[in-house]
Amino acid sequence: MSTRQTIRLTVNGKSYEREVEARLTLADFLRHELHLGGTHVGCEHGICGACTILIDGRSARACLTLAVQADGADIITVEGLRNRETGQLHPIQQAFVDAHGLQCGFCTPGFIMTTLELLGENPDPSDEEIKEALGGNLCRCTGYQSILDSVRLAARRLQSASAA
Ligand code: FES
Ligand code: FES
Repeated sequence: MSTRQTIRLTVNGKSYEREVEARLTLADFLRHELHLGGTHVGCEHGICGACTILIDGRSARACLTLAVQADGADIITVEGLRNRETGQLHPIQQAFVDAHGLQCGFCTPGFIMTTLELLGENPDPSDEEIKEALGGNLCRCTGYQSILDSVRLAARRLQSASAA
């Protein structure tokens, strides 16, 4: 019996149809089939959050999701955030740069995708709400203060952009 299945999904606004092994993770599908290496794989056990993406608008661990489970889904990865026309970084990405929210950058896509979900639901979060939302993302080198600053800065910028 074949263990391969055909899936159709949208990633960063582009439609794909691929035949995949039933046990292929979504993280490996994104990285190796679609060559979207921005979704990082750290622990592969749902602990570190480096592989966080949005599936139908909700954050999810790509290492714990099978590609076949994403059949029919609308997925956003960190590559989908940059402005396609101007090439400009998304305000959340820019805030992480400006507020020094990264060093090696391994954890950063996960933090950014989690922040995208947080600020979509709660544009003006308190520090406690930011800490709660980011509690499932781990960083080994930056320390969390500059990440907190980055999220605050992103929230301020997004709010003033939407008020303009
Ligand atoms: S690689 Fe998915 S949570 Fe760590
Ligand atoms: S910036 Fe290196 S792990 Fe977070």
